[in-house]
Amino acid sequence: MVSRFVVCGGNKLSGSAEVQGSKNSALPLLAATVLLNGESVLYNCPDLSDVDASMRILRYLGCEAKREGSALVIKSSGVCRDDIPDCLMREMRSSIVFLGAVLSRCGRAAMTFPGGCELGPRPIDLHLKALRTLGAEVVERHGVIECNARNGLRGAKIALSFPSVGATENIILAAVTADGTTTVTNAAREPEITDLCEFLNSAGARIYGAGEGVIVIDGVESLSGVNHTIIPDRIVAATLMSAAAVTGSDIEIEGIIQAHLGSIIPIFEESGCDIKCECGSMRVKAPERLGAMPYIRTMPYPGFPTDAQPPVMAAAALCDGTSVFAESIFENRFKHADGLIRLGADIKVENKVAVVKGVKSLYGARIEAQDLRGAAGLIVAALAAEGKSEIGGIEYLERGYENFEILLSSLGAEVLKV
Ligand code: EPZ
Repeated sequence: MVSRFVVCGGNKLSGSAEVQGSKNSALPLLAATVLLNGESVLYNCPDLSDVDASMRILRYLGCEAKREGSALVIKSSGVCRDDIPDCLMREMRSSIVFLGAVLSRCGRAAMTFPGGCELGPRPIDLHLKALRTLGAEVVERHGVIECNARNGLRGAKIALSFPSVGATENIILAAVTADGTTTVTNAAREPEITDLCEFLNSAGARIYGAGEGVIVIDGVESLSGVNHTIIPDRIVAATLMSAAAVTGSDIEIEGIIQAHLGSIIPIFEESGCDIKCECGSMRVKAPERLGAMPYIRTMPYPGFPTDAQPPVMAAAALCDGTSVFAESIFENRFKHADGLIRLGADIKVENKVAVVKGVKSLYGARIEAQDLRGAAGLIVAALAAEGKSEIGGIEYLERGYENFEILLSSLGAEVLKV
């Protein structure tokens, strides 16, 4: 559904807000359930359009998938298909992690290229190369990727030229029941990878080194259903930190894992916020006006996450001083800069660098989000802008933020979804 947010900016935020479960953990975990025999329950699963899309894929493949409150219950014993239609593949980028899971479960997988936010070219060459190394025959014809491993997949040594999150997930899903041992060098180290490996290990897998650069997977015969609680969403936490920082507020963010925010906390501290973390909760006390941010370069984890760049840039727009952002993960991840400029921000973008000269005030305007995290960035800025802003493209936001207008309103913001 196409909807807009109407934000009346200028309110200070107060009180506490609970962070939802991580979208980028939930999606590969849902793909992983294809490999499990029996029932699995995923607790703390956010209610998002991308999660719905994954559930539709699971049902198409023959699984039972239903939501019970914040939990998803999946039964995969009925898997009877090894293809995914284009209309389902196009709904999100993460549909591609079904490739490794379906191939591993069925010995064959056929699907088209995935959709997802337009952040520049998003090839899947690393995924396909790795599956070939594991023994799959991969043919790309008329936009369809067809993988065959009639005699099963075999453990292998895979060295990734870049620590791609999705490729690492696909390798893990394909190798977990392969014959023999797989070693992945230069693997992605994101917390979502660790969450996936912990889920699979409790289902009977033997994966070692998750969260480190080298992951070793000893293939097992089969996996059984498990109950698992999804980790908190570190990007939603970073968005709330940005919202507090830009409005000069004092809020409590509940249900976080401090270590996952290791590259984000110092940025806000250096710009003048007082941040205290205790027992899974974080208090962010922002100054009346933020100081300039230190140089921010997006990097694979544990570096500063590209997904947090748009909301943090929104906070930088009102800083006292100049902040510099270098985007090193995606080609085109400054689309929110246009919207921020319409609100009065002073931002110059040149290739993959954005220079943000802090202004004293932003003013409400009608703006359009063009991707998920960009939408979050525009909303953060609108919270601090004088007057009313209307933000379109909320369907992007809803891929990753659960009831965000309700969350922000509970903190005292004036946000209405229309
Ligand atoms: C995941 O995307 C996240 N998505 C992204 O979050 C996140 O921005 C990204 O990791 C980086 O942290 C999910 O987890 C569902 P990559 P993914 O493979 O797996 C290049 C959000 O807003 N590359 O690590 O697609 C690629 O082009 C989303 O929640 C290749 O060249 O990220 C990109 O430049 C957006 N060949 C870089 O690597 C490949 O085969 C990072 O991609 C694969 C990737």
